Amino acid sequence: MGDHDKEVWGTLTKFMLGLAVLAVVIFVVAGSLATGNKEAAMADGAADMEKAIAERIAPVAMVKVAGDKAAAPAAKKSGKDMYASACFACHGTGAAGAPILGDKAAWSARIGQGTALLYSNAINGKGGMPAKGGRADLSDDAIKSIVDYMVAESK
Ligand code: HEC
Repeated sequence: MGDHDKEVWGTLTKFMLGLAVLAVVIFVVAGSLATGNKEAAMADGAADMEKAIAERIAPVAMVKVAGDKAAAPAAKKSGKDMYASACFACHGTGAAGAPILGDKAAWSARIGQGTALLYSNAINGKGGMPAKGGRADLSDDAIKSIVDYMVAESK
């Protein structure tokens, strides 16, 4: 390496070192500034402010929840959803000898007797099938829409 090369390398190395030191300095300064800001903000009562905001929006959040609850009964649940919550325990597993959803062989004769009878047996009960599957809270129409779903899935 010639003297000139050495000089270039030396300058380059110093330059790189300088950059590295600068980066570290920026990093450290930025870090301390960030903490400093946070502390200053805390001193200004930012924590209190956060609490105050939470308290202020709480009634709105509550009203929203109450509103959703009030709207819930109006929203019609699908036969599928109601099936999952009211009928799956037996009709998803075959418990108590229930015909399993989707088991065409088990359903064909039942479907063959006509929808009206299926509805009434589901609503009033039949053998191991409790009236409304034990869900007296469900309306006749709700049971009918579940039966429609079960029949459609088991044809
Ligand atoms: C405790 C278990 C159980 C639950 C819960 C249950 N079922 Fe059943 N279900 C049965 C059994 C057992 C049978 C077969 C009854 C028979 O043919 O003797 C049956 C049969 C049926 C049938 C066919 C009736 C017929 O005429 O062959 C329908 C429709 C039916 N269930 C609908 C429902 C619906 C809708 C729900 C939910 C709301 C439900 N079941 C919940 C046990 C249950």
